[in-house]
Amino acid sequence: MKKFLELISEEMGKAFEAAGYQADLGKVTISNRPDLCEYQCNGAMAGAKQYHKAPLMIANDVAEKLQGNTVFSEISVVAPGFLNLKVTEKFVKEYLQEMRADAKFGLDMPEKPQMIMVDYGGPNIAKPLHVGHLRPAIIGESIKRICRYAGHNVLGDIHLGDWGLQMGLIATELKKRHPELPYFDEAYQGEYPKEAPFTISELEEIYPTASAKSKEDEAYKAEAMEATYQLQTGAPGLRALWHHIMDVSVSDLKRNYTDLNVEFDLWKGESDVQDIIPGMVEKFKNDGYAHESEGALVVDVKEETDTKEMPPCMILKSDGASLYNTTDLATIMDRMDKYQPDKLIYVTDKRQNLYFEQIFRCARKTGLTGPETQLIHIGFGTMNGKGGKPFKTREGGVMRLENLIREINEEMYRKITENREMEKEEAEETSRIVALSAVKYGDLANQASKDYIFDIDRFTSFEGDTGPYILYTIVRIKSILKKYDEQKGIKPVSGGIDNAAESVSGCSESVVESNNDNFAGKSVLREATSESEKALMLEIAKFNAMLEAAYEEVAPHKICAYIYDLANAFNHFYHETKILTEEDSEKQSGWIALLMLTKDVLEVCIDLLGFSAPERM
Ligand code: ARG
Repeated sequence: MKKFLELISEEMGKAFEAAGYQADLGKVTISNRPDLCEYQCNGAMAGAKQYHKAPLMIANDVAEKLQGNTVFSEISVVAPGFLNLKVTEKFVKEYLQEMRADAKFGLDMPEKPQMIMVDYGGPNIAKPLHVGHLRPAIIGESIKRICRYAGHNVLGDIHLGDWGLQMGLIATELKKRHPELPYFDEAYQGEYPKEAPFTISELEEIYPTASAKSKEDEAYKAEAMEATYQLQTGAPGLRALWHHIMDVSVSDLKRNYTDLNVEFDLWKGESDVQDIIPGMVEKFKNDGYAHESEGALVVDVKEETDTKEMPPCMILKSDGASLYNTTDLATIMDRMDKYQPDKLIYVTDKRQNLYFEQIFRCARKTGLTGPETQLIHIGFGTMNGKGGKPFKTREGGVMRLENLIREINEEMYRKITENREMEKEEAEETSRIVALSAVKYGDLANQASKDYIFDIDRFTSFEGDTGPYILYTIVRIKSILKKYDEQKGIKPVSGGIDNAAESVSGCSESVVESNNDNFAGKSVLREATSESEKALMLEIAKFNAMLEAAYEEVAPHKICAYIYDLANAFNHFYHETKILTEEDSEKQSGWIALLMLTKDVLEVCIDLLGFSAPERM
């Protein structure tokens, strides 16, 4: 379905053409003087030079050709040559009708869907999730959903950090505590236990303990490195132990991500590609891309046009060990092999910008990816505390994600139960839903690359540019729709609405026609009858253009900006309109249809941001 601006630009283009000018001068934009008009066209000024004519004359010629058209209700020519425009109520209504009938509200689907992989989350096994894991989860999840909504085949991959020194550290510490366990007995031939010898909380204590010890004790560190090496070269006991660590850690991660409404299609990790590293390195060498530099193996990725420093991409360290880079390159190779993606999107901290630039160049240069494969890094900024410094606990430590979420849930619970009566269980569930909207919207409303201030007070507010405000708007619409259905559902056979209450209390089946029909669902959109209603309709009509931009620019913040404007337009209309007491039932039904469309569009949008709305709040 064409975009709204596209349609009216076409109409304008036709008028330019009919008046003897180039059609593409008829580009229409949203007015920057909303007090004067809804849209404007500056084509007359643009054409003045080419046609050696005063812009005012061109504009007048064009305006004349627009007489009697069905798209514009007002066309005024303003010096030096602006065409100020308003569209007809009918045209807007018809556009919205078409939108309402379309499964994607007018967003065109690609002729050939792409295969897109989104690499996000990136937690490390055995280390608890902390606030630093919030942004990749929130942003990545939204990007994944946007790509999918845009009609592509999308896979989200968590890319676990599951192959590093942390595994050797845990094994070493565990061996000190329980040397009798079979995992450490090289001569052991039997089966290893099915159950892990630790719980997640033990594991989360073991890792930092071991890490701290290794920093002070050289011998301990050497032992951990040796254990890591043994694991990586296939020692069966350490492998069995590694599986335990993975199982315990992954089920804990799944619980945490589920609470965030974040879902991965693939739970692959660094360990999955270790076997293909030697072949890849060999190929880089044989093809002449990799060479030795100070003992290490590197691929040069500098280009002549570079203005900034571009160090070579290191493939193997001088001791032959592989690195973060090596694993990422092997993962690209694996993904190309298994899924043939058209696009790979990585969501990490922007401090990895240079790193990904090197990786992408190396992948292209060595032919891991062809020229048609898009490699995109979305580097996000830092989540700061109120003081403008990276977010910390009150004690100044790194805050666990679980604790942060709990704090916000509690704050939300307090707010929700402050002014309303609600059963404890429902209040808790509602708090969780609203709190998640607060956190996610607070993050996503900013352009990802920017730093932002994590401000719980502001994010949890029911007013202003916040998640709870959006949810509040949706809940308000739901409640009107429900009341409308209730009103209509109990309809006296004879007599007007005024008798309804009486008939019900009379409770005589014969005079009351009661059913559970969804009356709102049968409502029909009508032409706007007020300015605020039209403004709401025009806001809705921006959906497909907005979403296309959000997809193409990988920019969830565009969805936030849109729904904030949409919620404002709705609330403005709502405050000016007595919907439920309107006596003209056709007019009322038109409003109800508009409310439904507003709600549907808002709900699709929040789902793309990764949260949902409660029934009440
Ligand atoms: N595990 C990494 C870290 O903690 C993040 C992984 C990001 N993804 C990637 N393909 N490199 O920093």
